[in-house]
Formats: sequence, structure tokens, C-alpha cells
Amino acid sequence: MNAALSLWILSALVCAGRSHQHAGGDPAKVDGGSGLDGSATSVSLVTEANREFAFRLYRKLAAHADSQGKNVFFSPASVSVALAALSVGARGETHRQLVGGLGFNDTRLTQTDIDQAFKTLLEKTRETSNEAVSEGTAVFVDNRFSPRPEFLENLMQSYLADGFKVDFTQTTQSADRINKYVEEKTKGKIAELVNDIDPSTVMYLISYIYFKGKWATPFDPQLTKEDTFTVDENTKVPVQMMKLEETFDTYEDKSINTSVLHLPFNSSYSMLLLLPKDMAPLENAICPNHVNKWLRWMKPRKYEVHVPKFSIKTSYSLVDVLTQMGMTDMFGSGADLTGISEGQLKVSEVVHKATLDVDEAGATATAATGIGITLYSMHHVPVLRFDRPFMAVITERNTGNILFLGKIVNPTLEE
Ligand SMILES: *[C@@H]1O[C@H](CO)[C@@H](O)[C@H](O)[C@H]1NC(C)=O
Ligand SMILES: *[C@@H]1O[C@H](CO)[C@@H](O)[C@H](O)[C@H]1NC(C)=O
Ligand SMILES: *[C@@H]1O[C@H](CO)[C@@H](O)[C@H](O)[C@H]1NC(C)=O
Repeated sequence: MNAALSLWILSALVCAGRSHQHAGGDPAKVDGGSGLDGSATSVSLVTEANREFAFRLYRKLAAHADSQGKNVFFSPASVSVALAALSVGARGETHRQLVGGLGFNDTRLTQTDIDQAFKTLLEKTRETSNEAVSEGTAVFVDNRFSPRPEFLENLMQSYLADGFKVDFTQTTQSADRINKYVEEKTKGKIAELVNDIDPSTVMYLISYIYFKGKWATPFDPQLTKEDTFTVDENTKVPVQMMKLEETFDTYEDKSINTSVLHLPFNSSYSMLLLLPKDMAPLENAICPNHVNKWLRWMKPRKYEVHVPKFSIKTSYSLVDVLTQMGMTDMFGSGADLTGISEGQLKVSEVVHKATLDVDEAGATATAATGIGITLYSMHHVPVLRFDRPFMAVITERNTGNILFLGKIVNPTLEE
């Protein structure tokens, strides 16, 4: 097995309840104008695109992590919401790339449809989750920068964004401000989302998600014992292995040689643990329809399950993977963010951090995404640093007479 966690943990915490409600109509086969009202259609188109995006992004992150033997864990929901909020201010090709990269079909979904769908999804989370999940966005705007009022209004209305004014030239203080906000929203799990703020930043978009679930059937801590986890043929590590003998819903997916274990939380949320014979066929094939299939066809059966107790943290810069996914222009001089403001804006960074803690009582998962936006034409000050051997000429400007000429290889040598 080539991935560090041979239990491949599905980061999208799947809402089993919702899937069952849809049992009559596969969400993948929603038809444009057949009886569903327009906004319900937009919500399912956006939801379906978000689910596809989750696995595309997973494959990119896993490809990077594999070479370093690292875990992969992120919140596709947090990334989608942050990029969708950014798309509100994007225009032209930059907008087309963002919407396309997120998997939204722009012949079926306008920006207004997308905004309305995210509003519906965020509101639904706020209404139904009885504190198991909290999800939201925020925008930090530099004191001297005036975004278009309609841009901010849309973020507040559709993405339920909190808004703050900061002074980004005070790089440490503004980073602290953002980090304090995220720390509070993730209940202390993500204390430092951003560390190096570019002083030419004019705006920072944030999305966060916090999830805490108690297992419907908890594990007995008395039965947790040290055991061995096989990372690969050459590496074994000790873990605290939890044990539970119960009736579980499972599914044996022969097409990808994977056992699926359904661990429901005491809510409408579930964790699916996927144990493949080999990781690669699972990782390459997994898509939303697998999840639909497992949730629909899993069968209850008595099992003895062993699941490690663990806490992991991950941290990503998403600039490279988003570029690979076709969202290129926003990072360069071709960026068109004129929906935010007339100035020459570009995205300077996209950071994502996540945590996952699994124990006998349940699981806690958090994530946050930060998108830094800088004004590059006006604040761009090129740097010349004479920190290596250089030459010096002292000349008279009118005659061109060269009075002195030299080369400084070591400024500390006095003789
Ligand atoms: C977008 O939707 C249109 C109309 O339903 C469809 O013809 C087209 O194939 C879709 N494009 C993509 C990339 O899925
Ligand atoms: C969920 O939790 C509540 C209160 O803690 C408890 O009464 C209920 O039995 C639990 N349900 C399940 C399915 O464990
Ligand atoms: C599943 O395992 C069987 C038996 O080892 C093997 O023949 C088959 O190729 C595997 N299928 C996949 C998709 O890896």
C-alpha cells in the first residue's frame, strides 16, 4: 500500500439522511426543466458539481502527498465555497476558469444561480445541524481599499460572510486578526491559517467548517489496545486501536476490491471508512456515484471492527493544484477581478488547513481556506539586494571621467 493511511478516510462527511431522502431520484440525473423549480435544480446541480470537484481535488492532493508519504485530509466544501465567493468578483476568462474549475456548467448555471445555491446550502447547514456542523465565510478588507459595494453585499447576502476592516501593511497584526477569527470558528483546532501576509494584500477571503459528531454506537475505551499499523512493506507504526463488535452497515465493492464501513454519527452525518486491497484502483476510480451506491446498497451485518484512534493535521498551498485544474489566470497578470474593484488585482495565495481527530466517542474535523488578494501594479516595489559580490564605479556625470572602480567581494574585510 502506498498511502500512509491504509484506511482511506472519506473527507467528505456524507449526509446519509439526505441521500436516503433522494432515494427516488438519483441526484446525478437531475434534469434541467422537468418539474423541479429552478432554484431546487440549481442546488442539485451545484451539489453534484461540488461532489465531483471533491474527488478531482483529492486526486491532485494525493498525487503531491504520495511522493512524501503524507496523509491527505481536506474539506472540499470549504474550498468550493471560498472559490465560489471569489468567482463573484471575477470577470471574463478568469471567471470562466473559476466556474469551470469548480465544475459548474455555465450554460445551465448563472453566477446568480450559483450564489443562490450556496446561500441555500449554507443556510440549510445552519438550520439543521444543531451545532454538529458550523460553516461560514468572512472577508477582511484593507482600510485603504474600497471594493465595489455590490461585491461585498453579495458576499454577505449569499455567502453569509462576516466583514472586517484591517490594515494589511501591519502584516503581523492583520495575520493575527484573521487567525484569531479562524481559531474561534474552529474551536481552537486551526490556530494559524495564515503566517506570511503580503503587505500589498487588499483583501482576504476566508471560509471555515467545523464538524463534531458522536458515534451512534461509541467504542468502549476499555477495549482500545496498542496495535500495529502497516504503512508500507517496510514501515510499521504503533497505534491505539479501538475495537467494537456490533451490527454495521458494510458494502464489499468488488469492482475496486474495497470494503466499505459505515459509521453513523448520532445525527444525519456519517463517516465512511474505505479499506482497499490496493489503494491506487480505489483512488483512481472513486467518484460521487460510488458513494451513492454504497449508501444505497450497504447491508447490516455483525462485524468486529478495529479502527485506529488518531489526530492528524494537514496544510496546503493550493496554488499549484488549482492551476493544474485550469484556474490559472487569477494568479497572474491576466487576472480579471474587476467585479471586486477596478484596480489590478490578483490572487496571491490560496491556503488550506484541516484537522481530523478520531476517538472512541466520535470524530471532530475542521478546515479553513484563505484566499489572499493583492493589488500588484501600484504597490509593486522591485527589490535589489547587494548581498553578493558586486562592482562599484565612481564617475563624473558630465565628463564621464571614472574616478574610482572596484569590486566588493567581502565588505567585512578591512584590508
Ligand atoms: C452543459 O449543459 C449543456 C446543456 O444542458 C450541455 O449540452 C453541455 O454538454 C454541458 N456541458 C458540460 C461541459 O457538461
Ligand atoms: C443520540 O444522543 C441522544 C442524547 O445524547 C440519545 O438520547 C440518543 O439515544 C442517541 N441516539 C443514538 C442513535 O445513539
Ligand atoms: C481485485 O482483486 C482480484 C484478486 O486479487 C484481482 O484479480 C483484480 O484484478 C482486482 N481488481 C482490481 C480492480 O484491482
